[in-house]
Amino acid sequence: AKQQYHEFVVKEAAVTRLCKSQNIMTVNGQFPGPSLEVNEGDCLVVKVTNKGPYNVTVHWHGVRQMRTGWSDGPEFVTQCPIRPGQSYTYRFTVQGQEGTLWWHAHSSWLRATVHGALIIRPRRGVAAYPFVNNHGKPPVREIPILLGEWWNMNPIDVVRAATRTGAAPNISDAITVNGQPGDLYKCSSKDTTTFRVKSGETNLLRFINAALNTELFVSLVGHTMTVVGADASYTKPYSTSVLMIAPGQTTDVLVTFDQPPGRYYLAARAYASAQGVPFDNTTTTAIFDYGASSSSSSSNNSPAMPTLPACGGPNNTRFTASINNVSFVLPSTVSILQSHYHGASTGVFTADFPANPPVTFDYTAQNVSRGLWQPEPGTKVYKLKYGAAVQLVLQGTNIFAAENHPIHIHGYDFYILAEGFGNFDAATDTAKFNLDDPPMRNTVAVPVNGWAVIRFVADNPGVWLMHCHLDVHITWGLAMAFLVEDGVGVLQSLEAPPPDLPLC
Ligand code: C2O
Repeated sequence: AKQQYHEFVVKEAAVTRLCKSQNIMTVNGQFPGPSLEVNEGDCLVVKVTNKGPYNVTVHWHGVRQMRTGWSDGPEFVTQCPIRPGQSYTYRFTVQGQEGTLWWHAHSSWLRATVHGALIIRPRRGVAAYPFVNNHGKPPVREIPILLGEWWNMNPIDVVRAATRTGAAPNISDAITVNGQPGDLYKCSSKDTTTFRVKSGETNLLRFINAALNTELFVSLVGHTMTVVGADASYTKPYSTSVLMIAPGQTTDVLVTFDQPPGRYYLAARAYASAQGVPFDNTTTTAIFDYGASSSSSSSNNSPAMPTLPACGGPNNTRFTASINNVSFVLPSTVSILQSHYHGASTGVFTADFPANPPVTFDYTAQNVSRGLWQPEPGTKVYKLKYGAAVQLVLQGTNIFAAENHPIHIHGYDFYILAEGFGNFDAATDTAKFNLDDPPMRNTVAVPVNGWAVIRFVADNPGVWLMHCHLDVHITWGLAMAFLVEDGVGVLQSLEAPPPDLPLC
């Protein structure tokens, strides 16, 4: 294990997409931001300096942050924002996790452009990947693929406009692959992301859905993908031609370039926007090129497009969202973690987040469910004893819109025991629990009009946000926080706050 030091300077930079140049927030002037590559067991030290006009924080999405909650990053939950001109150094060890994670701003909607990959390889000289290519060897090349969204407007202004008018925020103007919209969008074809790969080789593609509000279907024409990991946990391998990746999730796949030499389209298509508007024609493309070396032969073959499922939903008219009828409100003068650590929660948060909703939600008796139409705003946490075994039933309660919610928990990975449609019914659905080899994730896409049951052990003291990873929903309050108390020994307690922790 070693220590890695990085400097992130958050600042505006001019970037041109879709024929329009604008100043966007970046890290070190890059969009998407730098990829960090570590080995399991490494300690990361990242000094973030804010040279932009907005407050910012950085979250290391999926990193467990054992006892280092001060480095988790969600603004007003574990720290106050880093103000323009200030710096804060995040320090944490990446332990017990291998695969693909990412980092992103956790402040307003800045993560639209402030994000990058965090790649965790097996521990140096000790471990190897638990998968091989078609010749029994490790994959030849690894390719991080960040799927994102682009607005012809500053994303902060998109949120501000929505808050002012009370309307749903604008949908994005493009979906992107490694920052480029691809050749189905105007002015984008010459910049389409192109991966030059070698015929016959097996590569590891590391997909990250960094989009703000869009679930994506991903496909590579003519090629089968073997899924080997998700959210920095290895999975039982399976083959598929289409991936569904929700915002916040990552998926690692092996692909062997076994087709006739040529150029093959990778496409990612929006499932539906957060507003429920079908994203017709909203498909981003990139090209995998293993054509013959004389480019003339490959360029006159225009690449084939994969077929992707297209789904839409009705218009969404709810502009608040809640969990157990509480619509989450961030504090503004201190972070929840700071006030908890100093035993000064009065006026900041209360520990009365309800263990159950006031009425049991029921899709078939929606009049009963109307009790959930008037959520109460509040900064409420749910307290957990150190070491508690936790089971959560995440029940979708959409009435007007059919959407799935990618629910993400900070500071933890969890097992997904079962998922289903309709109402969760403990009497019959418990029998469906997979207690043998449930997948481990940090983000679960709760099915449209359905439910998911997850479990974790509360072995990480601190304050941990749980929220929908559609940013439009977190804006509306689809979040809550767990307060995990310290255990008995020093190794079971939260570390002291670092001296440079920003104040509000
Ligand atoms: Cu990826 Cu709370 O976020």
